[in-house]
Amino acid sequence: MVKRSDVLERVLVLEMVRVTECAAMAASHLVGRGDEKAADAAAVDAMRDALNELAFDGTIVIGEGERDEAPMLYIGEKVGAAIGTGPKIDIALDPLEGTTLTAKAMANALAVMAWAPKGTLLNAPDTYMDKIACGPGYPAGVIDLDKSPGENVQALANAKGVAAEEITVCVLDRPRHAEIIAALRAVGARVYLITDGDVAGVMNTADPETGVDLYLGSGGAPEGVLACAALKCVGGQFQGRLVFRNADERARAARVGITDLDRKYDLHEMVRADAIFAATGVTKGALLDGVTLKDGFVHTHTLVMNSATHTVREVRMKRPV
Ligand code: FBP
Repeated sequence: MVKRSDVLERVLVLEMVRVTECAAMAASHLVGRGDEKAADAAAVDAMRDALNELAFDGTIVIGEGERDEAPMLYIGEKVGAAIGTGPKIDIALDPLEGTTLTAKAMANALAVMAWAPKGTLLNAPDTYMDKIACGPGYPAGVIDLDKSPGENVQALANAKGVAAEEITVCVLDRPRHAEIIAALRAVGARVYLITDGDVAGVMNTADPETGVDLYLGSGGAPEGVLACAALKCVGGQFQGRLVFRNADERARAARVGITDLDRKYDLHEMVRADAIFAATGVTKGALLDGVTLKDGFVHTHTLVMNSATHTVREVRMKRPV
């Protein structure tokens, strides 16, 4: 017999697709126009409107920032058309992951979102996070944030049954990663550098077609929770540790209830229950096509995944402009 909770979950998976599609379509008008803020604002507006049509009681736990910084989709904002009566869902979102990629018409900009039962997502502050991730199919604990880049490459190579030279590691191209990049190259690994967009960077490890085996380096902590939810859906591995550069960032952690500042989180501590995840391509990337206009129709491409069943769906939408 199908339980009511299963039906609900399935309905939500499909509803979620509409939300990331709306954000991606709105941002797509700003692709290549050099205006990061306008692109982000368009995606935020569209995502918020779409969320407010859904019959649920949603709370933003990862959003556009704290209440005094972000007018919409701020941490703690309630969304949904059934507040107080519908299912209580925590939401992590980034209406436009890759604002610079969008402004410059570069690959891999996404509209992304993860939903989980109330109280089960890490309330990550807007700080950096050290991250390590690999895709499914490896023994638990094969990678570890506390091992050196070379040790992680070697461990993954051993588990995969290949030489270290056959391992490709995705890293954000930033001066702060110079040592990591040098250490990876010293053991013979290939380094796949990205200019932005580490949610897509982490997700690459889950798809053998991308050729990426490992993700390493620091990026936004909110993006870490989103990427973690995506990997949970496919059975990958992820570890993260928050990075604090100053007192303001430590205060941000305190405001979301984080007391152990040095804690290393693994995937199941960051996403503590089954989650659903959706990403719609804004610009074309390794995993998703971008939004396109053709013959009077707008086309979108979305990945939507459910960690409870490890189901991965690709949804292509087409509708008249
Ligand atoms: P935005 O979409 O907010 O511009 O973030 C893009 C991004 O590249 C993230 O994917 C990544 O986590 C973060 O910025 C890295 O931060 P920084 O540019 O400071 O290294």
